[in-house]
Amino acid sequence: SGSSKRHKEHGHSHQHKKPRYVDAPDEEQSPRKSATELNGTTPQKLVNGYKVPKPHGHNNLNRINGVGESSRSKNFRSNSSTDLQLQEQRKQLPIAKGRDALVAEIGKHDVTVLLGETGSGKTTQVPQYLLENGVAGKGMIAVTQPRRVAATSLADRVSKEQGASVGDIVGYSVRFDEKYTSGTRIKYMTDGMIVRELMSDPLLSKYSVVIVDEAHERTLRTDLLIANLKTIQKKRNSTLDPKGKGNADKMNPLKVIIMSATLDAEKFSKFFHNAKIIYVKGRQHPVTIYHSSESQVDYVDAAMRTFFQVHVDQPPGDVLIFLPGEYEPHFIRVPELKNALGQEDIESLEKSITFFAKRLPADKMDVLILPMYASQSAHKNTKVFESAPSNTRKCILATNVAETSITIPGVKYVIDTGKCKEKQYLARDSGGGFDTLLTRDITKSSAMQRAGRAGREGKGVCFRLYTEQAFESMKRTAEPEILRCSLTSSILQLKCIGQNMEELDLMDKPDIDAIYSALKTLWLLGAIDKEQKLTSTGRRMASFPTEPHLSRSILASSEHNCTKEILTIVSILSSSSKLFLDISDQREAASDSRRKFRHPSGDHMTILNTFRSYEEVSKSESKSQRKEWCKKHFINEKCLIEGKKIREQLIDVCKKVGLDPNSSCGENEDPVIKSLGYGLVGNSAFLQPDGSYKQTMGHSIVKIHPGSCMVNEKVPAIIYDELVYTNQIYARGVSAIPRSFFLKHAALSQRQA
Ligand code: CDP
Ligand code: MG
Repeated sequence: SGSSKRHKEHGHSHQHKKPRYVDAPDEEQSPRKSATELNGTTPQKLVNGYKVPKPHGHNNLNRINGVGESSRSKNFRSNSSTDLQLQEQRKQLPIAKGRDALVAEIGKHDVTVLLGETGSGKTTQVPQYLLENGVAGKGMIAVTQPRRVAATSLADRVSKEQGASVGDIVGYSVRFDEKYTSGTRIKYMTDGMIVRELMSDPLLSKYSVVIVDEAHERTLRTDLLIANLKTIQKKRNSTLDPKGKGNADKMNPLKVIIMSATLDAEKFSKFFHNAKIIYVKGRQHPVTIYHSSESQVDYVDAAMRTFFQVHVDQPPGDVLIFLPGEYEPHFIRVPELKNALGQEDIESLEKSITFFAKRLPADKMDVLILPMYASQSAHKNTKVFESAPSNTRKCILATNVAETSITIPGVKYVIDTGKCKEKQYLARDSGGGFDTLLTRDITKSSAMQRAGRAGREGKGVCFRLYTEQAFESMKRTAEPEILRCSLTSSILQLKCIGQNMEELDLMDKPDIDAIYSALKTLWLLGAIDKEQKLTSTGRRMASFPTEPHLSRSILASSEHNCTKEILTIVSILSSSSKLFLDISDQREAASDSRRKFRHPSGDHMTILNTFRSYEEVSKSESKSQRKEWCKKHFINEKCLIEGKKIREQLIDVCKKVGLDPNSSCGENEDPVIKSLGYGLVGNSAFLQPDGSYKQTMGHSIVKIHPGSCMVNEKVPAIIYDELVYTNQIYARGVSAIPRSFFLKHAALSQRQA
């Protein structure tokens, strides 16, 4: 293959050896060729070579020094029920050598910044060390994660290591799902959940240690947590009560540990008055990196081709493919994030790899595809940690959760699309604005982390589906989320604990305009008054684990006697996957078979009809018949199952705040649309004389999305769940609403004025 001459190797660590290259696939035999037919796209060039990068000058996977002196653990718990093999694995982890020194350091300091390579054992071991060595005292240890899939799978693993079942000594808490008891000592939780706990327990008094993991990701919730931890610590750890009212010395002190997979630790340390930084050495084998010689238009297709290139030509070893994806928005549903968790790319790649894997010659290894993303069941997610059956190559399709949060054993090859989904705030010209998810190039730091995943257990190879120049032009690290995301739900939560975002001691302060626009949205929803003070409506809204505008609709539903209906709709909207499968070449067939659910008022009532039909079917049919029914109607059962679970939780919240979850309006859609209108008042548009729709709260012209049942309708006014930006602005999740709604409701129209 001609391109091979260009290949040179760049060892990821200090090792260098003779160039090795990957042959260009034979286009005639390659299963990848027909892949393009499968996708129905015009054939594109094969990924026929990976040019090796010049040395980057920064040794990202440089080894860093170990933790203090190595010493053996004296306090190891011997528990007859724990798996000896697991205990052996624990002792083999790089971090185990420095256990005592590490525990001593943490014991000495209020705040410790712990840096270390991914896979060294920080997340799974440190909480156990603190528990086993008694550093945590009687309190609980919280370990926060930006992604729920990491929180649940870590709880699973650490429970096993403790010889207990999940929810016992080790538990978790993520949006819409939690497993822990009063006896739980280590709780893996999303950063969003702990920020939420501040509302009921402002000093986090249940916890004696809070470990902020993956701090380098600088999610909005992590930043809010860090700011609060600093002030909480001041209150809890000062033995002298400044006001002289006593009791302060009785409070249990709080330890804070900031963990990061990257070297950007100085900033955390500085923020916490020059806190101690400790480095944990990891094990990193050299990784050979190949860059694509030209940029790839279709990264899913390119990933599939590269996978087979590896599978056909390369020795055994599992493959980890990084696809764009985003940590889920925790307990807050940001409508614009819908369908943006990366599972669509993952599903389409899974399908095409499965398709071609079946057609491989018999002498090739089998392929076991394992997707790893938030919305699939925890059980499925644990499968990625099991080793593959004999003569089988695991192919893990992951979002960036596998970048640093979790380490998957057996991986020798990494295929990096170079893409991620990033939340980005789009300001509206009228003020106000919203988050959107954009597929973006990853940062250099991410690219290095991804490559590093191939070298966990031995020498590895990383195929980058982008050019070396593309790598060089990547940003070094990502911008903190607080500087680029909507602050609406955070500001509402902060108001509930009496804090104003602009007064917080944050590592990075958001733009005052972003704060202003969030305040405006909250005011529009009636959550705050003209003086920016929290209203009783606002306080009740914050009790719901949903996005503020959906919470507002739930509250409105109680006045319109349709809480039952609204809860169903909100639950489906809060699910992490789409209700209706949108397969472009079967769009007509799909819409035909779904016609019977269609409601003239639009997509929201259509959702309700679909859910109701599903519940009917569920009553009499078997599980497989139910599946068949969903398939026939192009309905995504996953969304319904998740939606039902969310619904249960929302019913609980309703009961707690005194709303009747069963108030129902029967078949009358009027109250439902009105209730939705209260929440979606900012997401509304009026029909123009020329037939287009114009935002009521902005000046943009929006079109109704082709996937909406309202696409061919002209009604005086619409509300919508989200805007999607392509070449045009599309409104998705659309319902007709009487124009008079906006006029009749004086409070609303006043706000709009
Ligand atoms: O946090 P850090 O990246 O330093 O490492 P960790 O998450 O504590 O993981 C330590 C090791 O535990 C990994 O190398 C995995 O091999 C193993 N592990 C696992 O097998 N299954 C899990 N669910 C989590 C971790
Ligand atoms: Mg970790």
